[in-house]
Amino acid sequence: MDEDTLRAQLNKYNQGHVLQFWKELTEDQRASLTEDILEFSLSEVTSYFKRANESSENNNKLLDDRIQPIEDDAIKSVTGCDSALLKKYQDTGLREIAAGRVAVLVLAGGQGTRLGVTCPKGMYDVGLPSHKSLFQLQAEKIRRLEVMAKEKYGKCQGITWYLMTSEATHESTLDFLEQNNYFGLNKNNVKAFKQGMIPCFGFDGKILLDEMHSLSKAPDGNGGLYRALKVQGILQDMTERGINSVHAHSVDNILIKVADPVFIGYCIDKGADCGVKVVDKADPSEAVGVVCQVDGKYQVVEYSEISKKTSELRRPNGKLVFNAGNICNHYFTLGFFRNISDYHEEELPLHVAKKKIPYVDNSGVRQKPTSPNGIKIEKFIFDVLKFSKNFVAWEVPRESEFSPLKNSDSAGQDCPSTARNDLLALHKQWLLNAGAKSVQGDVEISPLLSYAGENLKDIPEIIQGPKVFE
Ligand code: UD1
Repeated sequence: MDEDTLRAQLNKYNQGHVLQFWKELTEDQRASLTEDILEFSLSEVTSYFKRANESSENNNKLLDDRIQPIEDDAIKSVTGCDSALLKKYQDTGLREIAAGRVAVLVLAGGQGTRLGVTCPKGMYDVGLPSHKSLFQLQAEKIRRLEVMAKEKYGKCQGITWYLMTSEATHESTLDFLEQNNYFGLNKNNVKAFKQGMIPCFGFDGKILLDEMHSLSKAPDGNGGLYRALKVQGILQDMTERGINSVHAHSVDNILIKVADPVFIGYCIDKGADCGVKVVDKADPSEAVGVVCQVDGKYQVVEYSEISKKTSELRRPNGKLVFNAGNICNHYFTLGFFRNISDYHEEELPLHVAKKKIPYVDNSGVRQKPTSPNGIKIEKFIFDVLKFSKNFVAWEVPRESEFSPLKNSDSAGQDCPSTARNDLLALHKQWLLNAGAKSVQGDVEISPLLSYAGENLKDIPEIIQGPKVFE
């Protein structure tokens, strides 16, 4: 596209300023800026700014009068099921895995800003005795499930592992997988795809320049998934592989039960098209979203969207009324994905975060602001729950399923030390359940040996760490 046409396009959407340094740019820089601009539909992204501001104004209204907890028949808990029922669900899940109808989708496009690392979070080593990264732990859980499915059903077609990355994480994630030989998984069953980006705006609605020849942009949120699934050909890939169930989860939960056959079996048994795992939110101020109904439709509501009084309401048994803590752990059928990507993706709400965004000022100097100067716009994965025709929730024990890595150790919670300690505490419990009398020091169990505490035979009575059971 020539300069005049580009300028006319930009002026139409009040974004002419992005060419203000055009005269000073080299040919290559001009080409790269043009490419940056053409990557977006200007009409769409500028309408995002307008919509995002409108929805953030609406979000300031508290939802107290409109929310209800999850209906009793749409939620079950692990602790409320007997072992025969859990086994039935697990067998169903393993049957689907054996038939090749299960995929895992790890959301790995986040920038890990709070953790303060430059590498993708999945590559992070929290300091376990084995020094395995989060990606390695996840991949090995997949391998163990494939063995379990084969033992039960005689053969296993395998689980497909999709990794949603972003411009910030794609190359390094691919290199890491390649260098580590896909952690022993079949390379053909591992597929990384990039989510989209959205430009960052100043508060006045003008797209910020990151450099004189590039726009400032950020990943479009984990709800960018629905567009990426379609435009990156992943829905097609899933269809060709015969996948029916997808377990989508955040990259940062060290206790994640990847492709949990019990959860998958439960969702299938209930005929659900969309399911969510939750943990009991014990403290009303815990910084997790809550799964509930708003005007009769399922939704995740943030702590800030309801009053303190509502968040503190309790049931007669002492549990919080709004206790279904969202842990970014979802079940979807392929049919559900198709429906969202084809018909609802453009209706997803846009969430605004006011941020300190580095930018080039009018004199061409790059500034690093010390207070928020603009907004990033994101879509959220859970904003599709309301489109479900049959939604279910599955409550799981926090100590065995949820310990996210969000912050650096200085925060003291949801950090490398807590993730490491929670994993080691769980493994110690598995060993005690398997017959050990004393477990001292750091003792870790490889996911290749045990997925959830099973298969721990001939365990010594006295175990002294550091040690890894392989
Ligand atoms: C998320 C949930 C929140 C839940 C909490 C539990 C969302 C929107 N929020 O919050 O309700 O209580 O986990 O730990 O799901 N990601 C991408 N691309 C992006 C942004 C994020 O792939 O553009 C990925 C991250 O890499 C991560 C996951 O999505 O794996 C969650 O994102 P994060 O920003 O960490 O969400 P939280 O604020 O922790």
